[in-house]
Amino acid sequence: MRTKAASSSHFDRTEECGMKKNILVLVGSPRPKGNSQVLAEAFAAAAREKGHETEVLRVSGMKIAGCQACERCWKKDGLPCVQQDDMQKLYPKLNVADMIVFAAPIYYFGFPAQLKAVIDRFYPLCHGDDKRRAFADKESALILCGASEEEDDFEPAVANYEVMADYLGWEDRGILVASGLGDIGDAAKSEWLEAARDLAMDL
Ligand SMILES: Cc1cc2nc3c(=O)[nH]c(=O)nc-3n(C[C@H](O)[C@H](O)[C@H](O)COP(=O)(O)O)c2cc1C
Repeated sequence: MRTKAASSSHFDRTEECGMKKNILVLVGSPRPKGNSQVLAEAFAAAAREKGHETEVLRVSGMKIAGCQACERCWKKDGLPCVQQDDMQKLYPKLNVADMIVFAAPIYYFGFPAQLKAVIDRFYPLCHGDDKRRAFADKESALILCGASEEEDDFEPAVANYEVMADYLGWEDRGILVASGLGDIGDAAKSEWLEAARDLAMDL
């Protein structure tokens, strides 16, 4: 199955400049000990070994509703979002993160609704040249898991991530597709655990 590390030509800021990154890992699974959580934590542990700061957040455990498309965030300056839910706790973390990592299972070939809700709520962070530029200066990565052994089954979610990162102006630092993981506990005994660590070791 696929692992796509960052391109070899990528400028490694950590090694070249000793830059410590603030990495926010958003876990999209509702299962607290699920495969994406295990892979997210393996990634985060390796990132900390490299000297980065990490926070792993299970967004499905937070109260985050979908975007209401009221567009008030696009009309008023300084109003992140009118919905007073846990996304208000996430906005400051998203703003200061140097890197945002998505770790999630695939549900019907896409992201679970809980993670999609968070992504849709990025809307206030992307309006206007200033806000857009501030939110654009980030790196990102993707860790996907799924029961399927077929790489093609992950492509819709991978494509969603790729076009989103490109649209937001983020620099993709790697994609891990961890196939063949169905039950809780599968990731911990799989080759993907090391692959998740490798993704962080390349940062
Ligand atoms: C609602 C639902 C939809 C799913 N859809 C897919 C799918 O389209 N393809 C797939 O390979 N696995 C699918 N799965 C299986 C999960 O992706 C798989 O069990 C994954 O390891 C769960 O990750 P987690 O332990 O982090 O929750 C689905 C599971 C659920 C509950």
